[in-house]
Amino acid sequence: MPARVVLGVGAGIAAYKACELLRLLTESGSRVRVVPTADALRFVGEVTWAALSGEPVTTQPWTGVEDVPHVRLGQEADLVVVAPATADLMARAAAGMADDLLTATLLTARCPVLFAPAMHTEMWEHPATQANVALLRHRGAIVLDPAVGRLTGKDSGAGRLPEPAEIFALATHLLTRGHPGTRPARDNDLAGRRVVVSAGGTREEIDPVRFIGNWSSGLQGYALARTAIARGAEVTLVAANVSLSDPAGAKVVRVTSAREMHDAVMAAAATAAAVVMAAAVADYRPATRHQAKLKKDGTGQAPEPIHLVENPDILAALATRRTAASKTGNEQVLVGFAAETDTSPQAAKAKLARKGCDLLVVNPVGNGLGFGTADNEAVVYRADGSVTEIPRGPKEALADVVWDLVACNLKLSVTPVNPDKIHRKLPGLIEGVSTWRVVCSHLSR
Ligand code: PMT
Repeated sequence: MPARVVLGVGAGIAAYKACELLRLLTESGSRVRVVPTADALRFVGEVTWAALSGEPVTTQPWTGVEDVPHVRLGQEADLVVVAPATADLMARAAAGMADDLLTATLLTARCPVLFAPAMHTEMWEHPATQANVALLRHRGAIVLDPAVGRLTGKDSGAGRLPEPAEIFALATHLLTRGHPGTRPARDNDLAGRRVVVSAGGTREEIDPVRFIGNWSSGLQGYALARTAIARGAEVTLVAANVSLSDPAGAKVVRVTSAREMHDAVMAAAATAAAVVMAAAVADYRPATRHQAKLKKDGTGQAPEPIHLVENPDILAALATRRTAASKTGNEQVLVGFAAETDTSPQAAKAKLARKGCDLLVVNPVGNGLGFGTADNEAVVYRADGSVTEIPRGPKEALADVVWDLVACNLKLSVTPVNPDKIHRKLPGLIEGVSTWRVVCSHLSR
């Protein structure tokens, strides 16, 4: 059966971008009912929504009353996405008003609800809007932070609608996570938590045209950021040399070198509940960065060797800072990743101890896994000695298990998942079940 999605559209200029979101949702097989506010139709008309969705479009509950649309749409939906969510619409939703079909639907929905706000910076920053956003988040909705950039008119700042493709990626994740029988509809266990994720590969300059780098694409780190946002977390993503679009709702800090990543992660992590280092960080950098391009001298002599010096170890620095702060009750959870050709438990445990983190996610390199691939698999080693196997699957699926384990460490309640239902409902998404049993058994301890 196709997923049933309600696409709520608020009265903002970004309504035209929701047409693209609608196309992505329908092309992925979802059945989408578009529910605009009356004023949203000033920006994009009923005919466009009806033609793109293949469904009737009304703003009030007075059409087809025999079907009781003001409660039925919300009750039957697997997901409600509101894009753009205006300040006024969120205020009405936060106040529990039901004066049109969209707000009535929001009151009756028991499925995940995702708001993608878009408005001028002043409206977004106003204490009234921020209070409404906080209230909606507190009640279980995912409210994205808007993107920063050019707004209507000459303004620019926070308030842009995140890219439709990124809202779609998040919607897809919420639909699969919130699948009936696998998890309760609202499961944003990281709500109110700030987390930091690093992604990509650092570059250490040799001269103006060359660097020491690695093959990290950022896919695993971005999947971690997206899944954390889908669970309600406030995410800072420190990205090194990644050419992916910003995950909707994430604060993205771009860096190039290991030292820049060190500074950015240490600053962002100061108040974070968890830090997940998925980035491939260079352990060494050239001692000297040449000002001019190094050239062959034509003598046939071997070039001067490049002397390397050690970069700061960011994870180790976080662990040291945590130890120093432990007297103040700092419970920050630290997660390292390790891309290895030697995946022996001995090597993994030694690295976990050396880094001083709580979890080390060891992912093998090769056979279509690791750098730049869509899929990944891993064995997670925990400081308490337990081990969790994550079978091969999309990087989002692996990311979700990592957050389950982080939630365990944060002592948040993670909902036990019925592995048989996952297996049946989401074929191909997760091919094994051992992980989930470990998560559940850990919780029951
Ligand atoms: O980006 P993708 O193409 O999707 O690929 C994902 C990935 C393979 C890069 C990712 O899953 C991964 O494994 N990242 C860690 C890469 C690695 O091998 O790290 P490491 O073994 O060098 O370091 C171990 C941990 O210490 C890592 O969490 C790393 O971020 C951290 N580190 C390393 C060096 C350093 N100076 N400071 C650090 O904090």
